Amino acid sequence: MCILITGGAGFIGSHTCVELLNEGFDIVVIDNFSNSSPVALERVKELTNQDFQIYDVNLLDKEKLDHVFKENKIEAVIHFAGLKAVGESVEIPLHYYQNNVTGTLVLCEVMKKHGVKKLVFSSSATVYGTQAKVPLTEDSPLGAINPYGRSKWMVEEILRDLYISDNSWSIALLRYFNPIGAHGSGRIGEDPKDVPNNLMPYITQVAARKREKLRVFGNDYPTPDGTGVRDYIHVVDLAKGHVKALGKILTSTGAEAYNLGTGVGNSVLELVKAFEETTGVTIPYEILGRRPGDIATCYASPAKAKKDLGWEATKDLKDMCKDAWKWQSTNPNGYE
Ligand code: UFG
Repeated sequence: MCILITGGAGFIGSHTCVELLNEGFDIVVIDNFSNSSPVALERVKELTNQDFQIYDVNLLDKEKLDHVFKENKIEAVIHFAGLKAVGESVEIPLHYYQNNVTGTLVLCEVMKKHGVKKLVFSSSATVYGTQAKVPLTEDSPLGAINPYGRSKWMVEEILRDLYISDNSWSIALLRYFNPIGAHGSGRIGEDPKDVPNNLMPYITQVAARKREKLRVFGNDYPTPDGTGVRDYIHVVDLAKGHVKALGKILTSTGAEAYNLGTGVGNSVLELVKAFEETTGVTIPYEILGRRPGDIATCYASPAKAKKDLGWEATKDLKDMCKDAWKWQSTNPNGYE
């Protein structure tokens, strides 16, 4: 069975390709490599000892996308492709809406044309409103606060409308919490192009002595140690969640959201400590003021994914730190 993966060269996409191939699915990948490297896909092939077709295609290019569907007998799509930097989305919102929202519209039009109505969509915990109570359940109030988050929220609503218009669609909206870590082999991992925005890649670059010290954004939140609390999830657990969601949509119809998190919240300083203990590398840090737009605490209730998909995270914070460090230390310049 052939599954189309959009954005398959990215951090979560590449790990999901590995899990799908290991589970016996055939895949076809499209990516425009705007924020990813073809080397990631070479390594997916190396890790799985399997080959697959790769297309350098922008989702907005409807003709080329149509061609991909004509050349392959695609039965379902896992849609990762999109822009993901919160700060950048505030600077260039039109670019974000064009890529994330219009890109998905084009994809769905082409899917519809070819009678492919099974879709797994990369959403985000950022769609939850800042006032929502933790643990977040799928019916917690929504309300994103930046263009990136709103683009994910809009796409969720569009996909629900699509299902309402035609009940033969089957769509899983996967709300990721904070994916970190890397494949245990150290061959694929997160490869931020510039200064990392996110906590774990920043920590690993400090550990590699590429950056002087970590800046901790705020220690006056109403949390046990004052620093922000998030639900960090190992990227391999997250990738396995996609395989489970795919299994679900292949055998049902609907448009359902699922939280993919561990259900455990950890603070910035807890993550730093876990990293130091696991790797033996010290992480110098300084406390700065809060980062605009950040909330104090965010973690999932993963109960629905466990009940409906038969999925739950199995890796802990130490696994995440160990694997993130193996990736960083063996690939000091990422895929370059
Ligand atoms: N943090 C620091 N220093 C840094 C980076 C982050 O102290 O250099 C702190 C943040 O203030 C926050 C925590 O570490 O408390 C996690 O921050 P990240 O940037 O790693 O992650 P966020 O929770 O802000 O955002 C992530 C993704 C978003 C996604 C969101 C979903 O980056 O794309 O989770 O909740 F939308």
